[in-house]
Amino acid sequence: GPEFESGGEPGKDLGAIRSTAENCTRCDLYRTATHLVFGEGAADANVVLVGEQPGDKEDLAGRPFIGPAGRFLDDCLEEANIDRTRCYVTNAVKHFKFTVRGKRRIHSKPNLGEIRACAWWLSAELRMIQPSLVVALGATALHALLGKDAKVTRDRGRILSAQDLPPVLVTIHPSALLRTRGRPDAAQDRQRFVNELRQIEDYL
Ligand code: URA
Repeated sequence: GPEFESGGEPGKDLGAIRSTAENCTRCDLYRTATHLVFGEGAADANVVLVGEQPGDKEDLAGRPFIGPAGRFLDDCLEEANIDRTRCYVTNAVKHFKFTVRGKRRIHSKPNLGEIRACAWWLSAELRMIQPSLVVALGATALHALLGKDAKVTRDRGRILSAQDLPPVLVTIHPSALLRTRGRPDAAQDRQRFVNELRQIEDYL
């Protein structure tokens, strides 16, 4: 949006963008979510990690990646020697989308309209922070950044370039690994994810 032109110092107006986002009605997800979950981390970070959308815990706390997927991500980052505190962590969609099943709120996938509406905030964050690398964690983040041409299964482990964006490292979403934890290939899949995350180090 024209009200958030990047000039000057990286990260300078991020707080103002965040405050404006709190009142976002660009799609309907604000109606049922508890909090808007904006990105978190150093406003001048060199690396921005992008997830899908907040989960149940994140919605309640108003902070990204603090639930089970976040803990798993933290472990994998640590194993890859990446200091999360030196990254800015955010999501493609900033309100929790869910269906109610009994007492539980089950995550449901954001649709294209919601991803597009919210990409406005993601691009404002990126314009402010001006990172050297963006990490797309899974298909929703990748679609928000690069559109439908990029594919996680084909492009994971690669760093893609596009106009008006920093280089984008493609990898899977940590929740995908949480779901397959009991399977025979789980350790190998996790190792592959960690290896992909190791590429971040060159940009930190
Ligand atoms: N999954 C995400 O994609 N983002 C979060 O913040 C939490 C879980």
